[in-house]
Amino acid sequence: MVSEYEIKKQICEIGKRIYDRGMVASNDGNISVKLNDNEFLCTPTGVSKGFMTPEYICKVDAEGKVIQANPGFRPSSEIKMHMRVYKNRPDVQSVVHAHPMYATAFAIAGVPLTQPIMPEAVIALGCVPIAEYGTPSTEEIPDAVEKYLPYFDAVLLENHGALAFSDSLLNAYHKMESVEFYAKLLFLSNQLGGPKELSKSQVERLYEIRRQFGLPGKHPANLCPNAKAGLPSCHSCKGTCGATLNADSGATSDDLVAQITKKVMEQLGK
Ligand code: 13P
Repeated sequence: MVSEYEIKKQICEIGKRIYDRGMVASNDGNISVKLNDNEFLCTPTGVSKGFMTPEYICKVDAEGKVIQANPGFRPSSEIKMHMRVYKNRPDVQSVVHAHPMYATAFAIAGVPLTQPIMPEAVIALGCVPIAEYGTPSTEEIPDAVEKYLPYFDAVLLENHGALAFSDSLLNAYHKMESVEFYAKLLFLSNQLGGPKELSKSQVERLYEIRRQFGLPGKHPANLCPNAKAGLPSCHSCKGTCGATLNADSGATSDDLVAQITKKVMEQLGK
């Protein structure tokens, strides 16, 4: 079994990677790992995640309250966001939050990552929606993210950054890398006249591969709320899954169609 000290070292190593790869600036970003149902390790607030040593890492309970922290260190200001993911996704063992340049630019422009442009992104992520803006450190971000958790392993945070989670620290980090790579390719291919999207049948074959491999985590291809509602689904919904998920909040089907139409027209720039 891997020791707690070893996991702290791994968190520092991943912190260095996200910093060295420009996925965070300054003291930004945070990382957590689940030890058991009531013990979690997390990065401290207000330090560069590129220069941490194991002594920096804090331990919190399922409410985000400190169990152990060395003098001068307090848990991440975004610990509530991490805890909301663990609460809703028992399969998740690690959460990574960063501000990667391209993914964050999409989150700022309000453009979700929905176009099917390369096999790896389709298989690993499907689409990446944007959770509505919330003030950092408050319950607003956890509340905005929660509705996406049953369907996705990564979300963009509006005007803020990205959040990725998986069954191990390395896999959560890899999800974050995949989000950023997808966003960068989407941005660059748009500069080159616009991406040539994979066809519906090519995308279907990739989903089938994902099913055959039995890959862990949630993927909207199998679960997309729009598909369940008989609406345009993954890679054609232009990010309207958020509107579908809001339907639970009392909107009528006419409201829903109006919301989705508006969102699609916005995405099409009309
Ligand atoms: P912390 O240093 O408190 O984890 O916050 C960094 C950050 O990126 C907030 O969004």
